[in-house]
Parts: sequence; C-alpha cells; structure tokens
Amino acid sequence: MIVTLSNLVRNSSFMRRSFVIRIWIRLCVCALTLCPYVLLAEVQSATKAEKWDRRYSGAHYLYGTEPVEFLKQNVARFNKGKALVLAAGEGRNAVYLAQQGFQVTAIDLSAKGLEKCQQLAKKKKVRVKTVVADVNSYDLGENQYDLVTNFYFYDSAIFPKVMTALKPGGYFVLQTFSLDQPMPNRFGPRNPAYLVKPNELLGYFLNYRIRHYEDTFVDLNEGMHQGRAAVIRLIVEKEGVL
Ligand SMILES: C[S@@+](CC[C@H](N)C(=O)[O-])C[C@H]1O[C@@H](n2cnc3c(N)ncnc32)[C@H](O)[C@@H]1O
Repeated sequence: MIVTLSNLVRNSSFMRRSFVIRIWIRLCVCALTLCPYVLLAEVQSATKAEKWDRRYSGAHYLYGTEPVEFLKQNVARFNKGKALVLAAGEGRNAVYLAQQGFQVTAIDLSAKGLEKCQQLAKKKKVRVKTVVADVNSYDLGENQYDLVTNFYFYDSAIFPKVMTALKPGGYFVLQTFSLDQPMPNRFGPRNPAYLVKPNELLGYFLNYRIRHYEDTFVDLNEGMHQGRAAVIRLIVEKEGVL
C-alpha cells in the first residue's frame, strides 16, 4: 500500500512536470507561429516616421542620389533663391538644388532620411538646412520661397499653404504617381489614395498659372523606382490669374 502511494506521488509529480513542459512547448510553437503577425501589427501601429526611418536605415539610398529627371530638365527656369524641398527623404533633390546655387530647406518626418541628406550634402560639399517635421502641421510661412518641390509625396491638403509660402513669381514643382500606375507594382504607393486622378491636380491651381502639366508614362531609373511608371508632372507659377 505504502509502495503504491509513493509511486503515485512520484507519478503525479512526473505528470505535473511533463504537463508544464508540454505547455511550454505549445507556448513556444504559438509564439513562433504568431511572430510574423505580431511584427506586422507592430509595423502597422508604428508611426509613419518610424516606418520611413526603418526604410532609410540601410547604407544605400533608397531612391538613389541623383535628382528627379523632371527637376533637372526644368531647373534653369527657376530663380536661384530660396528653395523648399517637401518630403525630401534622403535628400537627393535638396542636395542637387544646393549644388545649383539654391539656399535649400529640406523637410521630412524621417530623421534618418534627413541624416542621410546631410551626409550626401557633406559629400557634395554643399549646405542644406534640414527640418524634421510633418509638412501637414509645419508652418511654411508666407512669401518665403522662390521654389517649392514635391516629389513622390501626395497630399492635396498642403497645396494652399504651399502657394502661400511661395514668393510672387515663385514656382511649385511636383511629380508623383498617377492612377495609371499598375497596382500592385514593384514600386510606388500601395494605397490607391496616394495616386493622382486624371486632371485632379488642375483644379487646385486654377487661380495660378499652370506652366506645365503632363499625365504620362516615363521610364524611371532612380533607386527602387526602376522601369515604366505612370506619373503626373506639374509646374505652377505663383502669378495670379485675372
Ligand atoms: C517616396 S518617399 C520620396 C522621397 C523624396 N521626395 C524623393 O523623391 O527621393 C516619400 C517621403 O515622404 C515623407 N513623408 C511622408 N509623409 C510626410 C509628412 N506628412 N510630412 C513630411 N514628410 C512626409 C517620408 O518620410 C518619405 O521620406
């Protein structure tokens, strides 16, 4: 009887231990299986700035170090004064404008992107003022800039304050993806809300001189933007329409 009881005690402690081990194994399997979902949830809940910081965390420049071709093609028509580069990212366009003789301010919500902008500026021996800020809430001022650029960032809510920030006779230059951009694509926005609809942009600038408007396909060769892309290209001059 005593032997049977001690066996029972030993057995029950063995069963408890194996039960705990089984639970641990199950928890580990669950954690490993759920890991990607947990990470995904973290990424989704992380702020936009953190997302872009992560994207820019590598040593390479995501969109290369050369400016947008459309900017290069048109730079000669702009007064070489103060330029504001919106959503400047890693600074390829800001640094290019500084090389062309502009006094450049680059805004982006990614501190990491702007850190790389400063590294590029140093390498090219030019100065760029960088501001880590959300362009939606940042005060752009009034009659401050000869040129404002907006490449591959689309938020029409900022247009009124962009035009206010320009000096009379200043220019606003934009290039971004249009609704014709195939979805899903290897590059470009995944959210269709960031694709510009046909003629949508024209409506925002009816009180100003639209000097250039193109709704077209171009072959891009700028870092991860490689190949055929549907883009809108716009140049608006801050000159009133009577
Ligand atoms: C596709 S990248 C383009 C970067 C740069 N314009 C270029 O062409 O190389 C979009 C950039 O917009 C920035 N961005 C997104 N929303 C922003 C906001 N609300 N305010 C400031 N920057 C923003 C991101 O941090 C990112 O650097």
